[in-house]
Amino acid sequence: MKDKKRIGILTSGGDCAGLNAVIRSVVHHAMGTYGWDVVGIREATHGLMSRPPQVLDFDLNTIDRLLLMGGTILGTTNKGNPFAFPMADGTLSDRSQEIIEGYHSLALDALIGIGGDGSLAILRRLAQQGGINLVGIPKTIDNDVGATEVSIGFDTATNIATEALDRLHFTAASHNRVMILEVMGRDAGHIALAAGISGGADIILIPEIPYKMANVCRKIRQRQEMGKHFCLVMVSEAVRTEVGDQITELKALGEDRLGGIGQYIAEQIAQQTGAETRVTVLGHIQRGGIPSPVDRLLGSAFGVAAVDLIAQEKFDQIVAWQNRQIVSVPIAEAIKTYRTVNPKGTLVKTARGLGICLGD
Ligand code: F6P
Repeated sequence: MKDKKRIGILTSGGDCAGLNAVIRSVVHHAMGTYGWDVVGIREATHGLMSRPPQVLDFDLNTIDRLLLMGGTILGTTNKGNPFAFPMADGTLSDRSQEIIEGYHSLALDALIGIGGDGSLAILRRLAQQGGINLVGIPKTIDNDVGATEVSIGFDTATNIATEALDRLHFTAASHNRVMILEVMGRDAGHIALAAGISGGADIILIPEIPYKMANVCRKIRQRQEMGKHFCLVMVSEAVRTEVGDQITELKALGEDRLGGIGQYIAEQIAQQTGAETRVTVLGHIQRGGIPSPVDRLLGSAFGVAAVDLIAQEKFDQIVAWQNRQIVSVPIAEAIKTYRTVNPKGTLVKTARGLGICLGD
């Protein structure tokens, strides 16, 4: 491989805070330290599928202010698996070869893909099929990528959820209400648990711990008996109803998305305790906005480490945060396990120690 490299970078899957910090870091280190060229690929693999490929050429002047910008300046998508791409006529088509050809037409030596486990699995399959030198960077507010203790976006999302709970606290106390906050996280309850503890929730429901409404209502009554007539309830979007049904919203284009469990919990609490309840669904507020210092720091560190992996020609790896440092892990191994909350882990023990009801 030649000394002066030309590398591509793309963001894939749902956006989150900190992606631009990664892009900035990659451009800084690759161009500033190594003197390479960096090509930004627009809208994940869609940019490589377009003809000509849709790209953004970087120079060291184009990255000003990226550190504090939310979203991704490259654009992204969490739709359109290229191996079963939805076509206008309703059929699914394998468009992987177009992406591979798009990549090679840009004469790239390597590609940095920033994504969650789904995106990283797709990118790896493309890389194996098409001889792409891939390095991955884990991002997702859900914090469920197996190999890393923390992914880009999780800290900002947790901060936002904590602040939301802080704000609800005052209204709950002023009106003697039970306030329910529904947060994202897919099948992992990391945001709900972390923000619930940080924000002083009385009850936290996560998908990893089955609950009984009777236990939730008992906690509310106990607080009432202590003269505390308000209650803060944190619920993660993939929590099921008591009988195990998953609640989803049907969006305009017929897609199911998790959402609505907060309303169910509120109705059950109102019926069983007579308490006045209100629901806040935080939704995409958790993904956007200015990244927290931790996400800027992690994004900067991941970006530098990913460029160094390319310099060492160590491919098919992701960078990960483990035991207070950055390591690299083979992508296949990194996405093998889906990291949900450990029901016997430290944060669950912390919540129990604080008397927070987890519904079980
Ligand atoms: O995976 C990130 C995430 O924000 C999940 O927490 C959430 O369930 C989902 O994406 C929402 O996806 P969309 O942006 O397509 O509504």
